[in-house]
Amino acid sequence: MMKRDKFIIQGLGNKKSLSGKIRVNGAKNAVLPVMASSVLFKDGFKIKNVPLIEDLNRLDEIFKGLGVEMIKQLDGEYFINTTKINSVEIEEEASKRMRASIIFTGPILARFGELIFPHPGGCVIGARPIDLFLEGFEKMGAKVKHNDGKYFIKTKDGKLKGTKIFFKIPSVTATETFIMAGILAEGKTILKNVAIEPEIISLIEWLNDCGAKIKGVGTPVLEIEGGSLLEANDKVYETIPDRLEAGSFLILGALCASDLEISNCNPSHLEIVIEMLKDSGVDIEVGKDYLKVNNKNLKNYKSFSIKTHEYPGFPTDLQSPTVVFLTQSQGESLVFETIFEGRLNYTSDLVKMGADIKMWDSHRATIKGPKQLKGCELEGPDIRTGFAFVIAALVAEKESIITNVYYIDRGYGSIEKRLFKIGADIKRVKE
Ligand code: EPU
Repeated sequence: MMKRDKFIIQGLGNKKSLSGKIRVNGAKNAVLPVMASSVLFKDGFKIKNVPLIEDLNRLDEIFKGLGVEMIKQLDGEYFINTTKINSVEIEEEASKRMRASIIFTGPILARFGELIFPHPGGCVIGARPIDLFLEGFEKMGAKVKHNDGKYFIKTKDGKLKGTKIFFKIPSVTATETFIMAGILAEGKTILKNVAIEPEIISLIEWLNDCGAKIKGVGTPVLEIEGGSLLEANDKVYETIPDRLEAGSFLILGALCASDLEISNCNPSHLEIVIEMLKDSGVDIEVGKDYLKVNNKNLKNYKSFSIKTHEYPGFPTDLQSPTVVFLTQSQGESLVFETIFEGRLNYTSDLVKMGADIKMWDSHRATIKGPKQLKGCELEGPDIRTGFAFVIAALVAEKESIITNVYYIDRGYGSIEKRLFKIGADIKRVKE
């Protein structure tokens, strides 16, 4: 059963009164593929700096269905043991709630030559097809059948074949899936037009550390030499900081804090966001592993336009928090969402709060600011917009209620406790 908790938030009415330090957790989108990579291993391994988020429960459900053990050792530390893996089917309920379950397909098919999985669900941000995955597996010699909402995939003689795959779109999870598929395939797999998000680089480095032969790290072309099962030999994966959490906190700090230190992050993964916000007038100190926002000299921010893009361009995941920022900036901005066609629909909720936003089509909206927002009842449609609504509620006058907190919990661990510590009046009401 999905939890339907609510947040009740008292708005600051544009006072920048939050203050202090907020620590960034490990990246959800780095943990998920590294955990899925365990299927490629002979031995188990430990993962550190794992965020305590809802998606971890979905992973555990998928692991249980496969016969994989995820053993909690300390807070944020898990040991993954795949020695008793005994199924080739990805569990249905978890998969319907977490699109990223798709990254298990590559490792399972590569290891066992067979795979069964349902069409994955997840955040409500657009169609999210899986054609790149199905076409890729077929290119690697597998046969795909679709029956009763499930995909049944089988290789000819238990092995995927190395081949060349050109991605029509540099998809993050498709890139991760085929990197992992290539590791146990016969011969060489060449992937062209791959995504180069920091989470993918971190995954490749981890796999190479454990015996994979992946060349071209950080470039759009990867070459993977197929081989045998990987071995961790007591190596530990240390999860990289969540750049999307850090970016969301930066915007929160700019709008709601007199001063905010965002610790334990990697600012080099957020360059475009930092550049845009600095140009707009936000006072940001950039350290090696921290960011500080200083709002002691109150001034208006200038509006700017964004076009979402694959890394290192402007991240689609920070588009909705940025739109909240732009409702409070002076002037008119254009937001062009190029990755997902459903990822601007939430703007009608910000309009209810008093924002001046016009949506021209499913990809483009203009925002005129600044406009005072008023408290409202809001339902987050996805992880990042859920948090954008928290920021909007804090900026607004009076009280807001955010329903469907499940989505926020999927990506931001114990967020109300972390925000309460820096001075926010936010309460969780359990279902
Ligand atoms: N696409 C296809 N066919 C496919 C796969 C993707 O057309 O078979 C399209 C998508 O519809 C989209 C574009 O390709 O238009 C790019 O999507 P991508 O596949 O890169 O997205 P993803 O891999 O499903 C990851 C993140 C998302 C993030 C996007 C974009 C993970 C687990 N998820 O999703 O993160 O928004 O990349 O950067 O890494 C989140 O963390 O809240 C989140 C949604």
